[in-house]
Amino acid sequence: MAIDYQKEGRIAIFTINRPEALNAMNVQAARELHQAMVDFRDDPELWVGIITGAGERAFCVGADIKDMLPFLKEHLQNRPWAMPDTPMRGLELWKPLIAAINGLALGGGLEIALACDLRIASEKARLGTPEVMLGLIPGWGGTQRLPRMIPQCKAAELLLMGKPIDAQEAYRIGLVNIVVPPEAVMPTAREWAETICQAGPLAVRAAKEAMLRGSGLTLEEGLRLENALEAYLMGTEDFAEGTSAFIEKRKPNFKGK
Ligand code: CAA
Repeated sequence: MAIDYQKEGRIAIFTINRPEALNAMNVQAARELHQAMVDFRDDPELWVGIITGAGERAFCVGADIKDMLPFLKEHLQNRPWAMPDTPMRGLELWKPLIAAINGLALGGGLEIALACDLRIASEKARLGTPEVMLGLIPGWGGTQRLPRMIPQCKAAELLLMGKPIDAQEAYRIGLVNIVVPPEAVMPTAREWAETICQAGPLAVRAAKEAMLRGSGLTLEEGLRLENALEAYLMGTEDFAEGTSAFIEKRKPNFKGK
């Protein structure tokens, strides 16, 4: 399997498992990621996902140049959305995703991390969009997400020059949440996922939806969206449980209902 998909309680763990190619995404890996992500999205028992890469060197070095790029070349011109739905594009996924960036995150690999909500980077990670060196641009959201996420001039530096940056620089410009020693990447990701699992899962999803959908709206439209989501949450059992638990001075037992 190119994607190792494990369920640990409420947490789904996706490991890109092609260490011999520095976890480059071939067509098989993209299909398997799609299938695993759809399962994660639709399984009510799963609340948070973590994506990481197998081995010590790479999170993912992007599209497989020998396998994925020829596939995209063949399909993209006739059918622009040739890739199966993934968190990068097409998949309506409001459950939170954490990128555990254990090493190189280049091209499509960085774009997978950008499609996550939280990014935990190893001290040894290097991040970049080298596509221009191939005569290409990032095609899994990099040209759109990077300038929305970090200062425009820093996005331009990454996108136009194609040179990777180290983890500390990525932290300095706000591209990753935290930098930790290599052995602490997955434990930190699990700890953050467990923290999210303490909260009401429907509220977490609504917060993500409000944040992501809202970024494409005017302030007025965004406030309406927020209001609609708040009204929906107030009708849920989890809201009743969360407020009762506060008043009764106990831990809430959220059910995602
Ligand atoms: N696709 C396919 N195979 C890749 C790959 C990729 N993106 N990146 C690395 N590999 C393979 C290499 O071919 C090599 O395999 P072989 O041993 O069979 O030759 C193996 O992984 C190890 O790589 P290197 O020998 O090159 O290792 P290195 O330490 O010398 O260099 C590297 C590491 C700097 C990451 C270099 O491999 C590199 O520049 N890779 C390409 C990265 C890249 O350009 N990514 C963007 C891809 S396009 C894209 O992602 C488009 C998009 O937006 C979706």
